[in-house]
Amino acid sequence: MDILSFMFTNTILLILFSGIADGIDVFTSSQSVSDGRTLVSRDGIFELGFFSPGSSKNRYLGIWYKKIAVKTVIWVANRSNPINDTTGLLMINRKGNLVLLSRNNGVVWYTNIQKGVQSPVVQLLDSGNLVLRSENDNDSETFLWQSFDYPSDTLLPGMRLGWDLRTGLDRRLSAWKNSDDPSPGDFTAGVELYQYPDIVAWKGPNKYVRTGPWNGLRFSGAPMLRPNSIFENGFVWNEPEVYQVYTVKNKSLISRYMLNQNAYQGQHYIWNEKAGNWMMITYIPRDICDNYDRCGPYGSCVSTEVPPCQCLKGFKPKSSQNLYTMDFNPGCERNKPLYCQKGDGFIKYVGLKVPDTTNSWVNRSMSLKECRARCLQNCSCMAYTPTDIREGSGCALWFGDLIDIKLVQDGGQDLYIRMSASEVEPKGNDKVKIAVTIPIAIFIVAGVLLVSCYICSSRASSKGARENDVINDRNIEGQREDSEVQLFDLALISKATNDFSIDNKLGQGGFGPVYRGTLVDGQEIAVKRLSRSSGQGLTEFKNEVALIAKLQHRNLVKLLGCCIEGEQKMLVYEYMPNKSLDFFIFEKTRSKLLDWPKRFHIIGGVARGLVYLHQDSRLRIIHRDLKASNVLLDNEMNPKISDFGMARSFGGDQFEGNTNRVVGTYGYMAPEYAIDGQFSVKSDVFSFGILVLEIISGKKNRGFYNPGNGLNLIGHAWDLWKEEKAVQLIDPLLKESCNLSEVARGIHIGLLCLQQHPEDRPNMSSVVLMLGSDTTLSKPKQPGFLMERKSPETDSTSSKLESSSTNDISMSILEGR
Ligand SMILES: *[C@@H]1O[C@H](CO)[C@@H](O)[C@H](O)[C@H]1NC(C)=O
Ligand SMILES: *[C@@H]1O[C@H](CO)[C@@H](O)[C@H](O)[C@H]1NC(C)=O
Ligand SMILES: *[C@@H]1O[C@H](CO)[C@@H](O)[C@H](O)[C@H]1NC(C)=O
Ligand SMILES: *[C@@H]1O[C@H](CO)[C@@H](O)[C@H](O)[C@H]1NC(C)=O
Ligand SMILES: *[C@@H]1O[C@H](CO)[C@@H](O)[C@H](O)[C@H]1NC(C)=O
Ligand SMILES: *[C@@H]1O[C@H](CO)[C@@H](O)[C@H](O)[C@H]1NC(C)=O
Repeated sequence: MDILSFMFTNTILLILFSGIADGIDVFTSSQSVSDGRTLVSRDGIFELGFFSPGSSKNRYLGIWYKKIAVKTVIWVANRSNPINDTTGLLMINRKGNLVLLSRNNGVVWYTNIQKGVQSPVVQLLDSGNLVLRSENDNDSETFLWQSFDYPSDTLLPGMRLGWDLRTGLDRRLSAWKNSDDPSPGDFTAGVELYQYPDIVAWKGPNKYVRTGPWNGLRFSGAPMLRPNSIFENGFVWNEPEVYQVYTVKNKSLISRYMLNQNAYQGQHYIWNEKAGNWMMITYIPRDICDNYDRCGPYGSCVSTEVPPCQCLKGFKPKSSQNLYTMDFNPGCERNKPLYCQKGDGFIKYVGLKVPDTTNSWVNRSMSLKECRARCLQNCSCMAYTPTDIREGSGCALWFGDLIDIKLVQDGGQDLYIRMSASEVEPKGNDKVKIAVTIPIAIFIVAGVLLVSCYICSSRASSKGARENDVINDRNIEGQREDSEVQLFDLALISKATNDFSIDNKLGQGGFGPVYRGTLVDGQEIAVKRLSRSSGQGLTEFKNEVALIAKLQHRNLVKLLGCCIEGEQKMLVYEYMPNKSLDFFIFEKTRSKLLDWPKRFHIIGGVARGLVYLHQDSRLRIIHRDLKASNVLLDNEMNPKISDFGMARSFGGDQFEGNTNRVVGTYGYMAPEYAIDGQFSVKSDVFSFGILVLEIISGKKNRGFYNPGNGLNLIGHAWDLWKEEKAVQLIDPLLKESCNLSEVARGIHIGLLCLQQHPEDRPNMSSVVLMLGSDTTLSKPKQPGFLMERKSPETDSTSSKLESSSTNDISMSILEGR
């Protein structure tokens, strides 16, 4: 039918057909869905209708979650063909096809079913599937058409990714171009129908990531997709069909897997009802070793190694002077050539993602022994593995060079690689080898790092000295556990942060602005540009950073490395998606997301992080600037202390006991520190006490104003405590979720930390014990700083040095945000 006649019918239909009533899940050939109306699945889970993505004015027909506040579209009809008016109409035409048309754009989309249908109906199912079926047949196997067969960027539980070989249907995902444009972007993902099928994501025409083939239990190279408590992946691989599908264990959990155009292309989310947002639970690519063919033939990528490309045992780097770059790696070659006719053997390598399966051969009923024999028969067969690792049976063979092998730390499988008989000893028996040892071209990598060092640290010291320095450092490093800190190339950091664009700025900390960035491998980072030169030399700075990078604890933000360019120094941290604690607790709507159990968890986590800093780490760090904005939150709302070691390394003039420049934040400083510049671990304990009161009350100590008596939050808490009404301090939003005795204990511990005299305050390990037990607590003495004091205007967002006078003692405050 041509467009004109469609247009003609359209006009007629507009008059003849009646619109559907709202809230209905099914319509017939005498009804239609117009722009503004929606179809709602029976239990109200999904909704179909017209929408405009992001800031676009175009209209699309799509399906989204009805009950979820964050509009999340899971399917779009003909994504590259938008409607530019509001006359869009979805209906069933005379031939029983589903048709989408509009006045301006004519036929935008239609289902191309050839066979005629008796009384067709369209129904939106609670699974998110839009189906066209005949009225009295609702068997999913005989649907005439279903949206699940034409995925957009989202895979829902029960949806199939892959092939129906009977019809040649290949279901693939493709990412949206951007949030304003659902048309297909660069990334697609689907099942590659080699003899040994593999799940692949492509960027344009090129392979980008492989999960590795299914091995009966999981995907060889994607341990995070193995069965777990939340979801279960399956792979159907039989005559008419080859597809991946996943199910969620708890049917009330809302889950989706999507292909994203930007970092972490494959993302699995579940809806977090309490927090009101989507929580990413797994993603791929995971690390640089997931990038397709990172290391060339017979190279094995080991993400924890520097350099990551290693040769499999029995192989050596192909060229001693090859360039180690992102795009090109010539890989490895055999130490000893194969002599097929004289007989080769096999070496078993454990824990690998098996190689690219383009040239593979499979027989799933063979035993492993038969498999080996079969591979030996053919001189171009290079490796074999069982296709089902549960029973160690089935046979997959590889022909030609083996590429895209990765060492999978917590998963992977065995691969038997053909080797010269002389490599395999004792005679005839196959040998088990750990996968890798010899790094590829370590000198070359040293060279590349050297270059980045050049870029980062220009003008710092004399050229010759620096060269030697770095080479020496690097040579030992490959073997050393406690490696030197990673130096990031300035160009890399610039690229990652869009040239430090304002859009990437996350905020302004006490020591300089912080930017968000994404490295080429997809890792998200936060870059802190230290705004003040500490006058430290390059070596001292690097040493300091190295020391701090070694501080690793689950409640500390991880420092990944640094970048140095002349006077400009930068610290590179892991990125924390949920911002900082102050972003949540001091804001009405967001504070609802942190119920009492979460807050108690955060208090405990911060306490444990401080214990580590104060006594368990090698350095014994006093934080000196603990505050809500320095407590960052990860995906699961675990607290991570940031900016530790900053005062020690980059702020203070002196490090021991007494300083004449006070580094810290007004409202969190212990009295002895703010007034006398005396600091100790007990000054951190004081700041922790304030943090506890803030977390419980949802109010800032600074800015808390009690008109009656001029008391600050501490004073207010102390008054309530004396009147035995301490629990009145609690944030009203917490009332429902809280455990009053826990809250009371929290306030009690907070007040113990806030005592005037440092020697009265508990140390942090006692605090952790007190938080975790029911022991009787001692009575707190009067806290320090009961009254709101006059202070310099410190709410500005920029870092600045200001002076004020308290008790005739001059002090200056370096103020954070
Ligand atoms: C809408 O799209 C049609 C077909 O693509 C085009 O001819 C028409 O000019 C567009 N109208 C507007 C207002 O953009
Ligand atoms: C989608 O729109 C294009 C025009 O942009 C058209 O050629 C194609 O047939 C449409 N696809 C379907 C399934 O209707
Ligand atoms: C399918 O059909 C049966 C009987 O014809 C009916 O009871 C059932 O509710 C239908 N299911 C759906 C999803 O329409
Ligand atoms: C499933 O999830 C819901 C809501 O998240 C929860 O209330 C329920 O207890 C869970 N059921 C099981 C069996 O875990
Ligand atoms: C697969 O292996 C089994 C067992 O060795 C054999 O019987 C069967 O013929 C093989 N199938 C093919 C297609 O080679
Ligand atoms: C070895 O396997 C390759 C690839 O399957 C095939 O092309 C070749 O004919 C085989 N050679 C022998 C001798 O069977």
